[in-house]
Amino acid sequence: MTLTNRSLVTIDDLSNGEVLALFSLADEMSAAMEEQHGLCRGKIMASLFFEPSTRTRLSFEAAMQRLGGSVITASDVGASSLAKGESIADTARIVGSYADIIVVRHPWEGAAKVVADFAGIPVINAGDGGHQHPTQTLCDLYTLQKERNTVKGLKIALWGDLKYGRTIHSLIFALARFGADILFCPSPGLEVPEHVINKLITEYGGEVERLETSGWEAKDNLFPLDAIYTTPSSPHQLAMMPGISLQAELKSGVDALYVTRPQKERFAAAEEGRELKGKYPVVDKKLLKGKAFRQTLVMHPLPRVDELAYEVDADPRSKYFEQAARGVPIRMALLATLLGAREIAVPEEDSPPKIEYPVYRRYLSPACPNPTCVSIQETETKYLKPEFKIVNTRPLTLRCVYCEHGFEPKYVASADWHEGKLDTKKYHSADSHWVRTIRPENLIVFDTEEAAQAHGFKPSHFTGGHH
Ligand code: NCD
Repeated sequence: MTLTNRSLVTIDDLSNGEVLALFSLADEMSAAMEEQHGLCRGKIMASLFFEPSTRTRLSFEAAMQRLGGSVITASDVGASSLAKGESIADTARIVGSYADIIVVRHPWEGAAKVVADFAGIPVINAGDGGHQHPTQTLCDLYTLQKERNTVKGLKIALWGDLKYGRTIHSLIFALARFGADILFCPSPGLEVPEHVINKLITEYGGEVERLETSGWEAKDNLFPLDAIYTTPSSPHQLAMMPGISLQAELKSGVDALYVTRPQKERFAAAEEGRELKGKYPVVDKKLLKGKAFRQTLVMHPLPRVDELAYEVDADPRSKYFEQAARGVPIRMALLATLLGAREIAVPEEDSPPKIEYPVYRRYLSPACPNPTCVSIQETETKYLKPEFKIVNTRPLTLRCVYCEHGFEPKYVASADWHEGKLDTKKYHSADSHWVRTIRPENLIVFDTEEAAQAHGFKPSHFTGGHH
């Protein structure tokens, strides 16, 4: 399988074998930086940054320059046509006719997918709202791989804003795929979103256990652990250790502590008001004195604010500057392969098979409930139709193909209702047997009874709890 002409929108777009092959190429390139200069000569990378960035944009641009290619940039939102109300699709088509590859960062979740769908050239997601940031994840995994030789079997603590941190979301799926255990250490109120947990369980086969008493509450416990993911290959499956305790979990030591800043720019109104200062967990010398952290790699996607003390910088366990530096060879490897300037030998892989879900895409479709999803923005609804994957029927759960948020519609009907008889045009409760009787290609969903009735459907016996 070649990477030429492919896009990287989510970390799912690369198999484990492809990730490892990119790491080998990054090794090769960083050992001989000067020799890479002719590789992408004559190629143009467009960087479209509709959100602030320094290291990600500069590391992409440095990578392209080191490959001998050139860079065109639109980084000032105010100066671009987006400010005039141009759609993402139009921007993508135009830039796709100027450049050979696009790197995009955008505040809307799913925006990178739209660019990839319309540009006609490879597109790399450099962060789409709180959704994903797959190239940061490559740098993170590369650092783990370099420092520990493997990701499999590691115990990684994710720290801080697990709700809005896009680097966190891509990293969670990658860690699960590579067989690491994950400790979730959120700042209170910034826990991992439910749709991320659901995907973790259904797609990667491990278990998530929530801890009864969050360690954060205890007075001198500095470790705000609230849930644990164990991979299917873990030697200690959670089912076998009921009443799991913080102490037991930490005894074997944490391999890496991945710290993130509060993503304030994405906070909802309710969260903004709440003063996080003093509540947001801080990684400092004192915390790292703990037994569990003796061998811990301290990582951070950067920029940091107050959550990671400067006193830790000189500690040999700190790896965040190396992590950032590795962004250049990783992005060189990625750009060169997507542009077809290099082929990579993909090793035998053991990633779990991708699940193919039935797709829900019809005229009668609820909008994605995520307010920052690209599919519901005014400039985009003129050409984008809501589209979902049917990821579960118990309870019926649709996952937006753009932002990957999930939701549970309350009512279902069949597009195959007619057979000439209007009295079979009925809607049913989504938790009745009908959800599995109706074939996926005929499924129609409604949020409310009013919506179903507005489209001429009548209640069946299986609505409103009468089943
Ligand atoms: C991250 C991002 O943009 O999501 N930064 C980065 O790419 N290095 C993390 C952050 O902004 O907190």
